[in-house]
Amino acid sequence: MSAQFDLPAGVGLADAARKSRWPARMDWAQSMSGLLLGLFMWGHMFFVASILLGKDAMWTIARAFEGYFLFGRSYPGIVSVIVGGVLALIVLHAFLAMRKFPANYRQWRTFAAHRALLHHGDTTLWWIQVITGFMLFFMASVHLYQMLMHPGMIGPYESSDRVWSERWWPLYLVLLFAVELHAGIGLYRLAVKWGWFVGPDSNAGRRRLQAIKWALTAFFLALGLATLAAYIKIGIEHEGRVGEIYVPTWQKAQQ
Ligand code: HEM
Repeated sequence: MSAQFDLPAGVGLADAARKSRWPARMDWAQSMSGLLLGLFMWGHMFFVASILLGKDAMWTIARAFEGYFLFGRSYPGIVSVIVGGVLALIVLHAFLAMRKFPANYRQWRTFAAHRALLHHGDTTLWWIQVITGFMLFFMASVHLYQMLMHPGMIGPYESSDRVWSERWWPLYLVLLFAVELHAGIGLYRLAVKWGWFVGPDSNAGRRRLQAIKWALTAFFLALGLATLAAYIKIGIEHEGRVGEIYVPTWQKAQQ
């Protein structure tokens, strides 16, 4: 059976495939959306970790994102707009990444055989990225939907009650490992792919980038675990008063 294509006169199928710029554009869009998400995630981890500096610090960061210090009152809708932007980036990034997943049993078998044969570090990293990326499809969506619909419920007590009394901590614990591995490997692969920070000796450059990658992953995992422990601790202490909104020290003093 033969298919019919409308190609300009004198252009063969092979030419048309060779001249398409879409694969390159899609690769670029995948890299850029991954870069933006990775950078967002680093910022996110620091903002959420403000709880380690105290309840007032976390309250201040949460209200700042709602425009409280700019407009004199909170507009949680601003947070929903940010979440919507992150969600759109994730959808784009996941859609583009799906092209690279093995699509059927034969492709999985072929990849698994190659991976076992090669024993190549970067191939194994790619594999970890596929698995953690797949996990993120589901786990990040649950978290983002909550943030999208209840943007005003972010604060020292509000977040801690969610983490502990509303039992979000198991999701956050797994999500933390999945996202830190995924983002770390993703940013490392991005640097290798586009030659950023590699230097003239590519082997030495890769080794250096790998060391930086593991150091960053270890740092953000440690920060994330300490942060989660802080929310759990406050959540346990606050168990008897679930639903109470946190009032910062200076507002209490005024009252
Ligand atoms: C790429 C998307 C995202 C991922 C993978 C992600 C992941 C996580 C993880 C792993 C935690 C637990 C923190 C820890 O263990 O230290 C967390 C907590 C938190 N995230 Fe995200 N996050 C994402 C997007 C967002 C966005 C867009 C917001 C915007 C408001 C947000 C707000 C929060 C808040 C406030 C917490 C503290 C706990 C809570 O209030 O429930 N996250 N996130």
